[in-house]
Amino acid sequence: MKKKIFKAGVIGLGVGMHHVKALKNHPNCIVKKVYDFNKSKKLNFKKNFPNIEFAKNENEIFQDKEINIVSLASYDNFHYDQILKCIKNKKNIIVEKPICLNQKQLSSINNLLKKTNLKITSNMVLRTTGLFREIKKKISNKKIISVEADYLWGRSFKLYQWRSKLKEYSIIHGCAIHVIDLILWLLNKKPISVYTKGNNIGINTKKFKKHSYVIILLKYNNNLIVKITANASSMYPHFHELKIFSKNSTITHNLQGSYEIKGNKKIKKLSSKYPDKKNRLNLIHSFVDNLKNRYTKSIVDKKDIMNSMSISLAAEKSLKMGKEIKIKYEN
Ligand SMILES: NC(=O)c1ccc[n+]([C@@H]2O[C@H](COP(=O)([O-])OP(=O)(O)OC[C@H]3O[C@@H](n4cnc5c(N)ncnc54)[C@H](O)[C@@H]3O)[C@@H](O)[C@H]2O)c1
Repeated sequence: MKKKIFKAGVIGLGVGMHHVKALKNHPNCIVKKVYDFNKSKKLNFKKNFPNIEFAKNENEIFQDKEINIVSLASYDNFHYDQILKCIKNKKNIIVEKPICLNQKQLSSINNLLKKTNLKITSNMVLRTTGLFREIKKKISNKKIISVEADYLWGRSFKLYQWRSKLKEYSIIHGCAIHVIDLILWLLNKKPISVYTKGNNIGINTKKFKKHSYVIILLKYNNNLIVKITANASSMYPHFHELKIFSKNSTITHNLQGSYEIKGNKKIKKLSSKYPDKKNRLNLIHSFVDNLKNRYTKSIVDKKDIMNSMSISLAAEKSLKMGKEIKIKYEN
């Protein structure tokens, strides 16, 4: 039987280089074209990947009839328009988070995709981490009583690149969304409302005119409360801390290690990998596998993206309005 080959295009070559690598490594996929509007990225790419075409502009990728997957790793403000171009030109979509910047855009993407057979995924890499997969199994039958999760960015220099110039940039959509997605996936439950507070008094934040620290409280209909923070301005390494309390055990993951605590004396060290960079490629691989065979599940699908984005948008609205906001989910 003839092997099905997908041809991909990638736009934006920062984290997009990981997309190139993942797509190139998939046995059913080749990267046909890439594009980045930065000239030095172009020179560097051409030197390292002489067999991949460097497009003259993004439209050359959208309009290429042979390309059936487009990966969008451009700045946040470009994602929405580029998704629309993908839909118009019948391309399956890999898009970096956040996939868009407001509720109207989210509904429009959802409604347009419903009219097609196109698939979409987004790079919610924490789902691929061995340690978080182990934790998901451990808590699957447990009654969870509270959760605390922190996105410690540890890369405050990133605030001064394009992120500080972008009017709509939000660390909720840029950072907290990873943990929002992680919690949705771990608990397999959707919160009903959200309350957010934030400030900008951390280190290195003078030129960053937005919130660099936020606390988000998610409320569930069984009274569960989940606390999430995104911290872009403190002296700390890049890390995702987690505490999950259930009736008869607690899971903790912090710089000192990852443990399951059952009673005061029974402490078990969790041994799965964190961080787990190699496994990150699995997210894009699972998307291509799903295109090849619809019975193979994509690690992140449209419903997952719509849910995490709906919570992230409600959290941002709460921060602006200073009150608890009911989350409006797309269906
Ligand atoms: N999933 C993750 O873990 C993760 C990690 C980092 C960044 N991101 C997301 O990826 C996106 C890019 O962030 P980054 O950290 O790679 O930034 P970056 O500045 O490191 O790289 C972005 C690259 O894209 C290019 N670019 C931007 N917009 C473009 C456009 N419209 N057309 C062509 N080229 C364009 C820039 O020239 C730059 O080379 C953002 O949306 C960000 O939120 C996701």
